Amino acid sequence: MWQAERPSNIALIKYMGKKNIQNNTPSNASLSWTLQHLKTTVTLEPVVNHEDCWEALPSDFPFVMSKKGRNKYLAHFKRLKDYFGVSDNYKIRSGNNFPADCGIASSASSFAALTEVACQAFKDIKNIDVYQRAQLSALGSGSSCRSFLPDWVLWDGEKISQVESPFGDLIHMVVIVGDQAKAVTSSEAHKFVSTSALFEGRTERAEQRLKVFSENMQSKNWPALYEIAWSEFWDMHALFETSNPAFGYFLSGSIEVQSLARNFWQQKGDGPLVTMDAGPNVHLLWRRDQCDLFEEFETHFIKNKWQSISNFGQKT
Ligand code: PMV
Repeated sequence: MWQAERPSNIALIKYMGKKNIQNNTPSNASLSWTLQHLKTTVTLEPVVNHEDCWEALPSDFPFVMSKKGRNKYLAHFKRLKDYFGVSDNYKIRSGNNFPADCGIASSASSFAALTEVACQAFKDIKNIDVYQRAQLSALGSGSSCRSFLPDWVLWDGEKISQVESPFGDLIHMVVIVGDQAKAVTSSEAHKFVSTSALFEGRTERAEQRLKVFSENMQSKNWPALYEIAWSEFWDMHALFETSNPAFGYFLSGSIEVQSLARNFWQQKGDGPLVTMDAGPNVHLLWRRDQCDLFEEFETHFIKNKWQSISNFGQKT
């Protein structure tokens, strides 16, 4: 039996919309922060007289994979077997240490972990490096390729690369305002957004934000990063809300946490980067030197009302 784990990642410049649906070529480059503390574990075990199948691993956050989700996962495994020239059948088990399907990018970590476990199991046939693994993983879930490197990762549509940052390690917190599985999957979202009138110019807006975000990262301008990240996730969610059919992920708690973070910035002149994935939960990223601010925010505004997961107190 083989076992592998891969972390999730949260994009600050989003991958939303595809140039090519078949091989997940993104409309624009994206940039993420790797969430080392939020992981999917996958095991692989040969089975005889049985098709490839999937089962949940016991976890503190048990989840049921929808039929659609399971088919997509097994189709990616078939793609991996074809790549390695493998015809035997396997049982895949997977589990997350965080709630799935609600905007914490579980598809990134679960596709990355599945690709990783297959690369380990079949390495005697072909041993491929981390960049090739990431490319293979992107065929199953585009965002999963960014889970193969730590910290800031750029995916330009072909390859991944690590981006140097003067800010060092970050504190991540996701505020769980809803943990119900989302009604519209990210694969569907990628298709629907092309029907939005706002999709025109999206590639240029995302590329421009990426450029300015990278410049401000190098010049250590944290407030500028906050502003860019804010407009970027609103841009993505505006595409969702103006698609045909329109759909959306915001809950009242999503807006409440966003307002709390914005008021905090206004009062302190400093605060977290704020972003949301395709789900209702709000991600906050803080510099390590902001740990007092982080604790103040958590104690006064979050703790008594919502559940949250963070890596505060852990060194990644
Ligand atoms: O990898 P996919 O096809 O599940 O796309 C998900 C894309 C977002 O998570 C919504 C944004 C991103 O860049 O991670």
